[in-house]
Parts: sequence; C-alpha cells; structure tokens
Amino acid sequence: MNYVHGYDSRENRRLQDQANTLVELLHADTAYPDGSRVLEAGCGVGAQTVTLARNSPNASFVSIDISEDSIVEAKRAVESAGFSNVRFQQADIFNLNFEPESFDHVFVCHVLEHLSQPDKALSVLKSLIKVGGTITVIEGDHGSTYFYPDSEAAHKAIDCQVVLQKQAGGNAMIGRELYPLLSKAGFSSIHVSPRMVYVDSSKPELVEGFTKNTFTAMIEGVRNTALKAGIIDSIAFDQGIQDLYRTAESDGVFCYTFFKAVGTKS
Ligand SMILES: C[S@@+](CC[C@H](N)C(=O)[O-])C[C@H]1O[C@@H](n2cnc3c(N)ncnc32)[C@H](O)[C@@H]1O
Repeated sequence: MNYVHGYDSRENRRLQDQANTLVELLHADTAYPDGSRVLEAGCGVGAQTVTLARNSPNASFVSIDISEDSIVEAKRAVESAGFSNVRFQQADIFNLNFEPESFDHVFVCHVLEHLSQPDKALSVLKSLIKVGGTITVIEGDHGSTYFYPDSEAAHKAIDCQVVLQKQAGGNAMIGRELYPLLSKAGFSSIHVSPRMVYVDSSKPELVEGFTKNTFTAMIEGVRNTALKAGIIDSIAFDQGIQDLYRTAESDGVFCYTFFKAVGTKS
C-alpha cells in the first residue's frame, strides 16, 4: 500500500503527541455503555485506543489495523497504560471475518482519509453494527488550515501533502465530506460537529503539541516524497515550512478544523 505516513518511531511519536493534545477536543464526548462491544477500525499505534479504553472502562474493544507493526505498538501502549479491555487483531477493513451485526458501535479516526474507497469501507463497517448502534468517524480537512502571518509558501507546502495523499488514493480534505459519506452509506440521525483547534502563544502546549509537533511535523515529513515527485522545489518547500514554524512564534496564530461525525444504523 502506498501510504503517505511512515511507520517509523518519529511518526509514532508525532501521532502520540497529536492524540494527547487533542484528546479533550475530539474525545470528551465519546463514551460507550458498560458491556458494549466496540470495533476500532484502523487503530494504528493505539493513539486513540488508550483514550477509548480509558473513557469506557466497561466496554470491550476490538482494535484492528492492516499493519502488524502498528498492532504491536498499539498493544504495548494499551498494556503500559494498564488497560485490559482491548483485543487486537491484524486485519484489513475490506476483508474482515466478523459476524454481521456483531458490534454495538464502530469507531474510526484518521483512516478514511487514506482509503481510495471510503464509501465501501463505511458500508463494510455498517454491516458489522447492530441495528440501533452507531459509527463515530473523526477526520481532518487540510482545506481548513489558516494562520497568521499568512503565507503563500506555507499553503503551497501544505498542498504537497494534499497532492501526495491524492496520488496515494486518499483525500486530505475528507473532513467536509463526512456528512454526505455517512448519508450515502445509509446511516441515519447523522450529526457532524466541527472541532476547531485554535492556537496562539497563550496556549503553549498547543503551540508545541499541535502547530509544531503535529501539523508542521506532518507537512515536513513529506519533504523528500514531494521533491522526488517533482511537485515543488526544495527552496519553495523549505520556505513554506519556515513560515509554518513562524506561526508558532509569540504573535502567531494557527487554526485547523477536525470533523467528528456520529451516525446510527437504523
Ligand atoms: C493515520 S493512521 C490513524 C491511526 C489511529 N486511528 C489514530 O487516530 O492515531 C491510519 C491507520 O489506518 C490503517 N489502515 C489503512 N488502511 C487500512 C485497511 N484497509 N484496513 C485496516 N487498517 C488500515 C493504517 O495502517 C494506519 O495505522
């Protein structure tokens, strides 16, 4: 699979940073009833799994990912956080062996953006949910990025990630499509809530945890691939990255919006 994000330890740390910083914003309202069975599809290195397990200690989770290496990391993260309500399995969303309607709820975070057939993934996942159960989907949207000081170079660097993700079959601007995607998949009572991350220097943990270590690190991470693909030259790309770091200075401002959707299977 041609996957934009790597599986190296720097990427793991970035995903952990991202998760810790955004836990409150994205997850405060996700808790599953005692005894419910929840599928987390595409758990990665377990950045969200730990929060899921913590917020719903009496629910049982099955967390799957196509990457065996990520599953190993995720298992380690959940065990070292002291939770025992998660079972892990290496599996492909498009080739799962679970019984139809065998889960009360499904949770998917930062996964649909990497799939060339997010609509098919939603329909597969829907078939696994019991009637009356829910799906929760969280995705970002790079088109929601704006900042001060504004910079054309920074927008061009961000566009590199958008183009590369598209070339790999994904969509870095999928956040805005969650409502139509869930709707087309046949979910009902769909509710989408935009979650804006607003960062200025009065929030130093977000300046570090989000502007620098999550967003800018992610864009910086595509440098070699973008140069190799010939979609930008090194001077323009490096200027863009420098301008993104500039938004993390004392007078800088950075905004990004995630979209969280919940739909019900009726
Ligand atoms: C950006 S990571 C997000 C991980 C985690 N949900 C999080 O929010 O930190 C996307 C994950 O989706 C997984 N993935 C991609 N395609 C998949 C598929 N077809 N089946 C299962 N997992 C998949 C990748 O291996 C990767 O771990």
